[in-house]
Amino acid sequence: MTYSFDQLQNDWHPIAIESTLLINVLTPITLLGQSLVLWRDEQQQFHLWLDQCPHRGMKLSLGIIENNRLICPYHGWQFNATGKCSFIPALPHLLDANLKAQVKKFQVQVKYGLVWACLGDPASDLFLFPEFDITKRRIVFCGPYDIHTSGPRIIENFLDMAHFPFVHEGTLGDKNHMDIPDYLVEEFSDEIYGHVVRATQCFSWQPQSSKKSDQAELIEYAYRVVHPFSAILNKKNNDSKSNPGGLDDAISLHLQPIEPTTTRAWIIMALRDFEHSDQELREFQDFIFLQDKSILENQIPKLLPLQPETEVSVVSDRLSIAYRKYLRTNNLQYGVMNSSII
Ligand code: FES
Ligand SMILES: [Fe+2]
Repeated sequence: MTYSFDQLQNDWHPIAIESTLLINVLTPITLLGQSLVLWRDEQQQFHLWLDQCPHRGMKLSLGIIENNRLICPYHGWQFNATGKCSFIPALPHLLDANLKAQVKKFQVQVKYGLVWACLGDPASDLFLFPEFDITKRRIVFCGPYDIHTSGPRIIENFLDMAHFPFVHEGTLGDKNHMDIPDYLVEEFSDEIYGHVVRATQCFSWQPQSSKKSDQAELIEYAYRVVHPFSAILNKKNNDSKSNPGGLDDAISLHLQPIEPTTTRAWIIMALRDFEHSDQELREFQDFIFLQDKSILENQIPKLLPLQPETEVSVVSDRLSIAYRKYLRTNNLQYGVMNSSII
């Protein structure tokens, strides 16, 4: 089954960590080039509006919320929670029926602890992330990280193991163990994981695979691409080998496309580490991700080339090759380069 992701207007995109959003605070957001304002009302409902007053284009995110109404800072027009103008201070006697102005609104939903937005008509449900709901896991959010490159370059890096000894030496990689044993890549579909491109039996020798790790060990990874801009990996270490039955750590990466070559990354981790604080776990992930950021912002072109002949691939890149094929098959047009002419 293929589905056209095209310009991503009809997909869900992460825009915030739900627990960080305070009531009646206006948060400016940029998604797919659109300036938006997000706010949570006293009934805990989220509102995502165009950040542009219908009167004279003022940024509504610079206004305030009072009595469940957003008040524009320029001429004080008031907009109720439906986005309809309900009061104009310069014409206080105008009846509601004569107030026509309406702010453009967009759909939001809360899932996996993030707020997700859709700028068009949602074409499908969000992907499945069953690890989020397993009780023996600890959920930790990391980021957001702003990266000056396209989303597909970031996902491809997340799926890549061959860079570990060079970019993450001493944690995820070791220059005495640089070879990548063959691994399995396939399209996979079931009720638990949905339709994904996945890689299994991926092995990497890691000096320190996680904050909890206290010895170098051979770590088994499984990756799955659940959307062009979302991927999830599982890591098995000694704990999970002695506890079979799906108790692997999960690290999931979700990208908010700001512009074709500017991206905000959100990470949700579902871990079995109950010893370290959220901050310690976040710092470990920040350390790794910032190493990746310095690579990602220095690759050219920033748009991921989808023509097979544009960059040289080898057999250990087979997950990256499968990801590019998945993007081509699903007609992704955003953050990629389809032409072989650069
Ligand atoms: S621009 Fe918003 S009230 Fe005039
Ligand atoms: Fe990396």
